[in-house]
Amino acid sequence: MAFTRMKELQQEEVAVIAEALTKRQAALPQRIKSMLLDLESQVDGFSVNELVHSLQTATRALRAGASEEMIVAALCHDIGKVISIVNHGGIAAEIMKPYVSKETYAVIRTHTEFQARFYNGMVARDPNVCQKYAAEPWYDLACRFSDEWDETSFDPDYDTLPLAHFEPMIERVFALRLDGDYAANASAGSSHAAPRETATF
Ligand SMILES: [Fe+2]
Repeated sequence: MAFTRMKELQQEEVAVIAEALTKRQAALPQRIKSMLLDLESQVDGFSVNELVHSLQTATRALRAGASEEMIVAALCHDIGKVISIVNHGGIAAEIMKPYVSKETYAVIRTHTEFQARFYNGMVARDPNVCQKYAAEPWYDLACRFSDEWDETSFDPDYDTLPLAHFEPMIERVFALRLDGDYAANASAGSSHAAPRETATF
């Protein structure tokens, strides 16, 4: 490549980069699985490690008849903890954002505020901080996610499904979307309007 700054990019260089980025993005399911496995080392005083907690949350969602997208969201809701604890809901939500509905994105982004009902009162903070979302169309789903699947999933004796059970779902939910395909967008020209995900370098 000849360019030393973005302003010098040529069409053929953009095409090469777009193809490479498409391949890299297509590896997202593998990175998601790696992040989940990284959670196994995080225990931090809980009764199960964070991988078991994530698998158990997803297992409960599955057995409750949740959509595949929501099952995978339940599985991935804490993967942000691999990077940072304090804003892990936002990190996980942003990773999933191009692949899930607005409602699922919102549930994952805010799940820590719904979980806070169970401990904020013990650390001198407002346990009802999630009430600010009461008028949102996804509020009931967020309560269900928290109350039925997330809050309950610290049980070492629960019949939790293994990661292998969810791997095909991860592959499907995080599959590269046509409208998020870097190479497809590049070949279609910069005027191509991607409805959900725009190619970015
Ligand atoms: Fe959780």
